[in-house]
Amino acid sequence: MSLNIVVGAQWGDEGKGRIVDLLSGQMDVVARFNGGDNAGHTVTVKDETFKLHLIPSGVIHPQVVGVLGAGMVINPSVMLDEMKSLQSAGVQINPQRLLVAYNAHVITPMHRALDLAREQQLSKHQIGTTGRGIGPAYVDKATRRGLRMIDLMDAELFREKLRAQIDEANLTLTRIYDAKALDEKPILEEYLQFADLIRPYIQETALFVLAMLKNGKRVLAEGAQGVLLDIDAGTYPFVTSSSCVAAGALNGLGIGVYPVAHVFGVVKAFQTRVGAGQFPTELLDDTALLLRGSGDKPWDEFGTTTGRPRRVGWLDGVLLRYSAATNGLTELIVTKLDVLSGIKQLKICTAYQQQGQSFEMPPFGISRLETFEPVYEELPGWEEDITAARKWDDLPINAQAYIQKIEALTGIVVTQISVGPERDQVIIR
Ligand code: IMP
Repeated sequence: MSLNIVVGAQWGDEGKGRIVDLLSGQMDVVARFNGGDNAGHTVTVKDETFKLHLIPSGVIHPQVVGVLGAGMVINPSVMLDEMKSLQSAGVQINPQRLLVAYNAHVITPMHRALDLAREQQLSKHQIGTTGRGIGPAYVDKATRRGLRMIDLMDAELFREKLRAQIDEANLTLTRIYDAKALDEKPILEEYLQFADLIRPYIQETALFVLAMLKNGKRVLAEGAQGVLLDIDAGTYPFVTSSSCVAAGALNGLGIGVYPVAHVFGVVKAFQTRVGAGQFPTELLDDTALLLRGSGDKPWDEFGTTTGRPRRVGWLDGVLLRYSAATNGLTELIVTKLDVLSGIKQLKICTAYQQQGQSFEMPPFGISRLETFEPVYEELPGWEEDITAARKWDDLPINAQAYIQKIEALTGIVVTQISVGPERDQVIIR
């Protein structure tokens, strides 16, 4: 029995897609447990780059069954587009290879419209959401007005429920947000077509995953976003609306308290964030330009979902320590170490300071980060291009020291280091 969980240990965009892709080579099931198409996973296989928002990237491996779990909010239009693009790239997509939880929630155009209207109203206090309707879909779920995948099974019932949702959302849009109402007819028509196409994929997924585990199959639970964006553990209110932490995998897949073999925390060698919110180690100088890249390469620091330039900064060891503790990480996977090549003097934040007092962990978790000053330790950089390194010994001594510093700060072993976007550009220790 083998359940493995992959979570982003920062604010998302740690490069989980490629790590999930790599680990999926040895998996039988890869299951997403939270979020929706706010996520964006980029996977490069030879000349082909896949940008997936919903479908677990593991399905690119022919032996893997993909699951979209109950904790997700799913935009059917995005899911159908991804199915099509995977199929046209030769990836087999059928109900035996892709299961959609009957109790996952459905994102509709109303959720997107409400998301955008609310952000607009918040003006300078915006969260900087991806505008994909994620928050409003989870609001509907919590207030028990949500549409679930199972509702697509009965066209008449679905039409009624969707119509009620549109009516209610239109009232909110026009009366509270002073926004335009959406036209009911085309939405109903489009969603009834989606329902026909998606129906065969809607299944019971929790018992399926449990049965697979009990039959000795290897399951990977793929987290979206990152721990610091978690609705409870993250930098609230600048977070997403779902559970991004490792424990969320059990709930989001509905499999109970199940023994977990590995909890992989994926961490970028530096810090990035999209959207608003505190960022103690943020850089705004020339080093930031270097870390971000120009946007020419698919792996430069621009959002996969929105194309927004990501904010960048030095690695924050305090936040990483917090992520390790609150997720029970068993190992760390460091990505994009190659991006640091050529920077003469590197910095890692090892503690926070407030009124002369130093903290390894701030007193109220990671709330009110703006009241702390980061304390840095400087580490010498390395000049060498490390993209061809495949073994630990291939890494310059200063790069090894950088990784060892991460281990010392967190008490967690780094088992893999990626040095480029290709599948084989990884050092496995
Ligand atoms: P939402 O999830 O669209 O509501 O956005 C809430 C916050 O989470 C915003 O700051 C987004 O930029 C951020 N966010 C959501 N999904 C991702 C992701 O996959 N990677 C990085 N940031 C994300």
